[in-house]
Amino acid sequence: MPAPAAGTGSSASAVLRRQRLRESAARTYARSFPIVPVRASGMTVEGADGRRYLDCLSGAGTLALGHNHPVVLAAIRRTLDSGAPLHLLDLATAEKDDFTTALFESLPPAFADGARVHFCGPAGTDAVEAALKLMQTATGRSGALAFTGAYHGMTAGSLALTGNVAVKEPLPGGGEVVRLPYPYGYRCPFGVGGEAGAELSATYVERLLDDPAGGVVPPAAMVLEAVQGEGGVVPAPDDWLRAMRRITAERRIPLIVDEVQTGVGRTGAMWAVEHSGIVPDAMVLSKAIGGSLPLAVVVYREEYDGWRPGAHTGTFRGNTLAMAAGAATLRHVAANGLAERAAVVGDRMVERLRALAGELPAIGDVRGRGLMIGVELVDPAAEPDACGARPAAPELAVRVREACLARGLIVELGGRHDAVLRLLPPLTITDEQAAAVLDRLADAIAAAAA
Ligand SMILES: Cc1ncc(COP(=O)(O)O)c(C=O)c1O
Repeated sequence: MPAPAAGTGSSASAVLRRQRLRESAARTYARSFPIVPVRASGMTVEGADGRRYLDCLSGAGTLALGHNHPVVLAAIRRTLDSGAPLHLLDLATAEKDDFTTALFESLPPAFADGARVHFCGPAGTDAVEAALKLMQTATGRSGALAFTGAYHGMTAGSLALTGNVAVKEPLPGGGEVVRLPYPYGYRCPFGVGGEAGAELSATYVERLLDDPAGGVVPPAAMVLEAVQGEGGVVPAPDDWLRAMRRITAERRIPLIVDEVQTGVGRTGAMWAVEHSGIVPDAMVLSKAIGGSLPLAVVVYREEYDGWRPGAHTGTFRGNTLAMAAGAATLRHVAANGLAERAAVVGDRMVERLRALAGELPAIGDVRGRGLMIGVELVDPAAEPDACGARPAAPELAVRVREACLARGLIVELGGRHDAVLRLLPPLTITDEQAAAVLDRLADAIAAAAA
């Protein structure tokens, strides 16, 4: 289809219609939110039709400071005005040097001291691939341990498709993934819930790894999220995370923590690993570290740096603007205590949502950490299981998302059954905005469940 002539057919409905006709069937968020944003500031997005929305999606958790934060815009403008090259592969620049300094200053010292950073292609999934390859190279093993509900990106097959033998040679080939039970209290894989479920998970993982007939070939790494995002906003208990660290360390299995979504203050600490105090062998970082522009890195303990030059290369690894915006964001979050503020506001929102669950039986569970909050919707008429959880209500969740949008609130779904409303507001959310989000959400759930 030819492109429309300039100035014609630019109404919101025409733009949406052309998108439906020209973009792939894999369109995702565009299906949930049929709006055409034209302006955005902080937590507010304005559509082409003049309607304004409070954005609780924040670019899937990317916008720590909300849309177009003045600090981010100033960093971008400064860089543009300086005449710095905007694209530079992985050459050294003052902006990259400064971003690296800001990043290392933000990381827990026990991890950052003696760590290395690798700049990846600008998506979280590429940094996950890099971390896994790094540990495959370091251990000479191929497989990995991962968890039920985990989400780490979309490109698991990309290396297998690559023909360049030089970069594949040190790797022992595509390995298998052993799936382990994540501690999800509400829908406990062991049917017991709570702390007991998390303890069973840790015991199971440890005994499975030690069972000579357990079927687990020694893996290259364990990969986990400290709070599962796409899996339905499931925070792992700190004791369980410490158990995973101990179990992997005792068996010399590198631990990769994927902080793509949890990083930069989101969970009420600069990095989610700080809650439990664990020191991983590698951390995968993306989303908010680019200050709303694409950027992804893997940071890892120096002793794993067994890569050959070019072992994980890629064209778009030197986005100067993203590095400037990212450094400004990291420093602004730290200097203004925004992680601590996320903890306070998040706790308050969870408390109010739990009170609301008493009035609205369609709310089965409210959970989260900081400003990563999940509201799991259930069928209140169905029988609860042994843990007290009723069946998930994905159709109700879709109706609630639509009712939210009609009330000027952008909320996306996630979780095992796509029945978890996920709140990821910017860390800069005001008390008034938090109250408005909860009012609109409560109204939408009540209306959709009626
Ligand atoms: C924990 C986690 N890891 C990796 C990814 C993949 O990141 P990207 O979509 O930038 O490839 C995501 C994306 O949501 C994520 O939440």
